[in-house]
Amino acid sequence: MIKACIFDLDGVIVDTAKYHFIAWRRLANSLGFDFTEADNEKLKGVSRMESLDLILQWGGVEADADTRLELADRKNNWYVEYISAMHPDEILPGVLDFLAELRERNIQIGLGSASKNARTIIHCLDLDQAFECIIDGNKHTKSKPDPEVFLLAAEALGISPAQAIVFEDAAKGVDAALNGGFYAVGVGSPDVLGHAHFVIPGFDGLHFNDILQGIGLLAHE
Ligand code: BG6
Ligand code: MG
Repeated sequence: MIKACIFDLDGVIVDTAKYHFIAWRRLANSLGFDFTEADNEKLKGVSRMESLDLILQWGGVEADADTRLELADRKNNWYVEYISAMHPDEILPGVLDFLAELRERNIQIGLGSASKNARTIIHCLDLDQAFECIIDGNKHTKSKPDPEVFLLAAEALGISPAQAIVFEDAAKGVDAALNGGFYAVGVGSPDVLGHAHFVIPGFDGLHFNDILQGIGLLAHE
């Protein structure tokens, strides 16, 4: 009954949060303030402009629309510089084996990411052929927790939400999956992702049957 798995990119396939953090922090420092890695957690799954607004708020900085666009561009140029140097060895442990198992089982594989840089990242990781559809930040407008990104992926794959499992590391991403009627698997800590159908720490050593069992679609032995 499950026909597809749809993956978030940042924090699920690869840890780009550290590059976002360095680039945003560089911007904040250039504006005369700083923020912590704990603050950075609040930016996971959040779009570029919404992230900028939060950061400016933390620094007590007000900026008009043109300046905000210029600041977001400045950060993105630094970020693209960092991610362009990424290699396939930065793919998170177990991801490649898990994708290979899905292919063997004829489960379709899609990507649903808020990032406008998703294709650059996918290319640097040598994953251009891994996804049957890529819905990135250029292809949708409504931010998670709106389910738009995952609904567009389901449509592109020709399946209904109830036939797909979404993998997400952000609380808002899990909300988006649930709002769209998908099965949601949180990748990370149950403290943050406990509202998902099932939570895994990562993909290392994980098999598709573990997921089916976790979401209640496979009887316990
Ligand atoms: C999400 C990240 O995947 O993409 C966020 O979790 C990021 O931190 C968002 O802000 C947008 O990314 P980009 O690459 O378009 O600036
Ligand atoms: Mg993410």
